[in-house]
Amino acid sequence: MTKITAAITGVGGYVPDFVLSNQLLEKMVDTTDEWITTRTGIKERRLLKEEGKGASYLGIKAVEDLFRKTGTNPEEIDLILFASVTPDMPVAISGAYLATQIGAVNAFAVDLQAACSSFLYGMSVAARYIESGKYKKVLLIGADKMSSIIDYTDRATCILFGDGAGAVLFEPNYEGLGIQDEYLRSDGVGRDFLKIDAGGSILPTTADTIKEGKNNLYQDGKTVFKYAVSRMADVTDILVERNHLTAENLNWLVPHQANKRIIDATAQRMGLPMEKVMLNIHHYGNTTSATLPLALYDYENQLKKGDNVIFVAFGGGFTWGAIYLKWAYDPKGK
Ligand code: UT7
Repeated sequence: MTKITAAITGVGGYVPDFVLSNQLLEKMVDTTDEWITTRTGIKERRLLKEEGKGASYLGIKAVEDLFRKTGTNPEEIDLILFASVTPDMPVAISGAYLATQIGAVNAFAVDLQAACSSFLYGMSVAARYIESGKYKKVLLIGADKMSSIIDYTDRATCILFGDGAGAVLFEPNYEGLGIQDEYLRSDGVGRDFLKIDAGGSILPTTADTIKEGKNNLYQDGKTVFKYAVSRMADVTDILVERNHLTAENLNWLVPHQANKRIIDATAQRMGLPMEKVMLNIHHYGNTTSATLPLALYDYENQLKKGDNVIFVAFGGGFTWGAIYLKWAYDPKGK
């Protein structure tokens, strides 16, 4: 029997219109364009300003873009994986709402949360369903409305994050293209360094938690930075070695976009030229679950069938890992 591998066969993306530039941030908090640019590489990020719209709205837009480009019939979708740290609301999953809105009447949906590694882990889950042979079309969406959990008076976090979404379609491949290998990790040592204290089952939201800012994202940036640099490079190394990849035969690195310095360090350790690194942090900032698919969205027309691609991410928890994939199609145009 021919081996089934899980290939990405389409990409869609969406970012909201409102641009929060470094210049605008200079007016909001004690910061400068120069500090933000040199420490993070970010110049601007997009924010979803319309009231009553959450991460599912961003995801739906990204899926609509994917459907438009691929001509996919929503009724053929078997499974929807909605990766997000900012779902529309607790309990009622956003994936189910998204499925109904896009007309995926034959799919079941699951929300998936692994902080900034949500999309990466989602790729692994999507691959297992496709490889089982029982599922033919799996839609993976990474969508985050980070502006809903950011305190815009906290200069340590508000300069970093943006809103956006990306979607990819996974289908079976019989030519050996698609996901080849993965190395995923997690370590609870990270729990205190990147979190929201309140709103979960340990500390439900009260008037006091809101007053004390405990419902907003907190990050010990320096500690997360140190872990991210070493862990992202470590897992990439492992995949490179055991798949006989080199700076020459690896075509693309798709890194989580949290800080350009982390991305530079990862590429440097591999000896990979920056032309092979997908980079869009300057436009979108850190969109958490959306960084990887938005990178594909921006670079889709440069990817060629057979290209060797490594995805790598690091996030809260801690969670991190890398996935090695062979790209399955030539540019089709947007
Ligand atoms: O996506 C999930 C994973 N997340 C990450 O990978 C993020 C990892 N961390 C980072 O990217 C970086 O640590 C940050 C960009 C968050 C911060 O950069 P840093 O070089 O680690 O700066 P720092 O936190 O050590 O702060 C250095 C100085 C401090 O001042 P003092 O104590 O040296 O006087 C901060 O108060 O910079 C100050 N500072 C700022 N100054 C101007 C912090 N934020 C700002 C700001 N504007 N926005």
